[in-house]
Amino acid sequence: MNSVYFDANISDERRREQLYEGQLFVYSATPGSRRLVELARTLIGEAFGSLAPETAQYELPVERYASILAELKPKFIHHPDAKVHIKGILAEVGCDLAKTYFDVPRMRTATSDEYLTTGIALAFHPHRDTWYSAPRCQLNWWIPIFEIESGRSMAFHPLYWSRPVRNGSSGYNYAEWNRTSRFQAAQQIGVDTRVQPKPEEPMELDPQLRVMTPVGGMLLFSAAQMHSTVPNTTGRTRFSIDFRTVHLDDVAAFRGAPNVDSACTGTTMSDYLRASDLAHIPAELVAQYEPGVAAVCGR
Ligand SMILES: [Fe+2]
Repeated sequence: MNSVYFDANISDERRREQLYEGQLFVYSATPGSRRLVELARTLIGEAFGSLAPETAQYELPVERYASILAELKPKFIHHPDAKVHIKGILAEVGCDLAKTYFDVPRMRTATSDEYLTTGIALAFHPHRDTWYSAPRCQLNWWIPIFEIESGRSMAFHPLYWSRPVRNGSSGYNYAEWNRTSRFQAAQQIGVDTRVQPKPEEPMELDPQLRVMTPVGGMLLFSAAQMHSTVPNTTGRTRFSIDFRTVHLDDVAAFRGAPNVDSACTGTTMSDYLRASDLAHIPAELVAQYEPGVAAVCGR
């Protein structure tokens, strides 16, 4: 990991190769990303009413705040227009819509001053998405909804692109998580009792890299990147969007970033929807990923 490409004029194939080598790509806002942000802002505005969303945390009891998010986030995730806007984004940056699959977008909130860092507004400890059953070819797209600054962004920990960390991923299975833990998010206030893959040894979190784009700008990175939520002390809640993509050719060829330390089982592969028509990845292919990230390497 050593490069950040800005508005790169590059084929999607070449871009994926670079992302699998740990490079980062940053794109200026496009019409599609602006529309996705606008949709998010509209729903956020409706949810918080007369309160300014970035500072609403100072006006509300935390239980009330969590319940607002518990209603707001699924509305955004499942809004039909969100899929339309993601398709627009993918076309704008040169992805092949017939071979690129995406999952529904998430809305993230990172509150300030440890107001709410669990459950529905989880502050992510350092992790790779590949610890959570994401395939090595998954790419993450990250978009701020309101202005961000370094103190309320996300951080990459580049030392760990090639360095393994002892971690709890061997206890994680995506299907199992969905059965038991996902839907408890809104109840996890104060302490998050759900078992998640975490580092199990001290880490060197510096040097770290934080990429700030204007609202609607897009940051792309491999699911194998070590990243975390920056502890927010800025006095404003961070609102951001993320979604993930995979390319069918890479899925079929078992291509992707190297696996340095993931031992989870299961796969998120059945979540992705083809950009052109929202079809799922063929079940036979999904099944081949079920044994887990490490087992699928080198197939
Ligand atoms: Fe992540």
